[in-house]
Amino acid sequence: MLKIGLVGCGRISKKHIEAIAANKDICELVAIADLIPANMDRAADMYTEKTGKQIRQYRDYQDMLKTDIDIIAIATESGHHAEHALAALQARKHVLVEKPMALSTSDCDRMIALAEERGLALGLCHQNRFNPPVQKLRQALQQAKLGRVINGTACIRWNRNQGYYNQAPWRGTWEMDGGTLMNQCLHNIDLLQWMLGEEAETVFAQTGNYLRDIEAEDFGAIVIRFANGAIGIVEGSACVYPANLEETLNIFGETGTVCIGGIAVNTIEVCNILGEDSVDNTSQPDPDTVYGAGHIPLYMDFVTAVQEKRKPYIDGRAGKKAVEIILAAYKSQLTGMPVALPLKNFSTLDMKELDLKQR
Ligand SMILES: NC(=O)c1ccc[n+]([C@@H]2O[C@H](COP(=O)([O-])OP(=O)(O)OC[C@H]3O[C@@H](n4cnc5c(N)ncnc54)[C@H](O)[C@@H]3O)[C@@H](O)[C@H]2O)c1
Repeated sequence: MLKIGLVGCGRISKKHIEAIAANKDICELVAIADLIPANMDRAADMYTEKTGKQIRQYRDYQDMLKTDIDIIAIATESGHHAEHALAALQARKHVLVEKPMALSTSDCDRMIALAEERGLALGLCHQNRFNPPVQKLRQALQQAKLGRVINGTACIRWNRNQGYYNQAPWRGTWEMDGGTLMNQCLHNIDLLQWMLGEEAETVFAQTGNYLRDIEAEDFGAIVIRFANGAIGIVEGSACVYPANLEETLNIFGETGTVCIGGIAVNTIEVCNILGEDSVDNTSQPDPDTVYGAGHIPLYMDFVTAVQEKRKPYIDGRAGKKAVEIILAAYKSQLTGMPVALPLKNFSTLDMKELDLKQR
């Protein structure tokens, strides 16, 4: 039974609490930390309601790190992930971090290096990788059933209105978030790169700020060339009228076409693979929110990885990949040029002076 402490009790903390409670045979939430007491009370009540157990509360997460806890989960604003993860790793805790891993390549590298140096598990909340249709596609690709892979597309045609940004002022800022590519689109960009070979070589992007009163982009288009020659195309929008339209992942190979949609990439829309029955038995009913239900298997994997002293399914090196592509897309917008990977020392803060407003 591993002991977990959660830093950050905002909107996504609900998914962490649900997932820890659902895995109560292998782990328990013993403490939470937040600067806002009301957020902690809400999270504590939710956990107690689900499990009957009481949990400790800390205004200063550093005090929580001094206690006997095995795993620290981090669900603070994106711009704090690196600071909080590094502090937890320094305190010799295993760390599970919300996406995006961090907002600079050097912070990602520091987190990976410290976890590896200390022999600690570092995991990322890319929960959609656990969706059964996504797993089915990944297995088909690993078994080369789609033949030569030509291209893939990740379309995130969503609406995040001004009220969404006003509700949490850190959103859309270069210091704490990035734009729609980093926040809303990262999950699908992660899936795209995972399916197309995980080795992005060149990134070219055009981004802009069209409608929202934020610093960063509310629309972005990216073209990614992978080491195996495949081309990935990303269309990411926070501006679709009047509401979310779709989040889809499409992969096209010489002998296979697979399209996954649904509100949280949980439904196979097309599955045409040479020699295979196109009947799909993996699609899930749409969940309540775009967050999906993947935090439950994610926690199960992470906790058992710590118990078994193995790497989690989505470790720091895996988590860095989508962040690196998005930072390369930002650099491409900044320079007007394609950007070769690996990308060194680039941060969302390097975008601060760029005016993205499309007037
Ligand atoms: N995996 C997903 O699908 C998913 C979905 C939504 C959000 N997220 C990510 O989760 C993170 C949080 O998003 P959110 O919408 O819950 O944000 P939020 O603003 O609702 O919550 C953040 C919380 O962190 C707390 N916090 C800030 N500094 C702290 C500190 N030093 N110590 C303790 N607590 C501190 C804040 O007080 C707040 O309660 C973001 O990085 C976001 O990208 C992931």
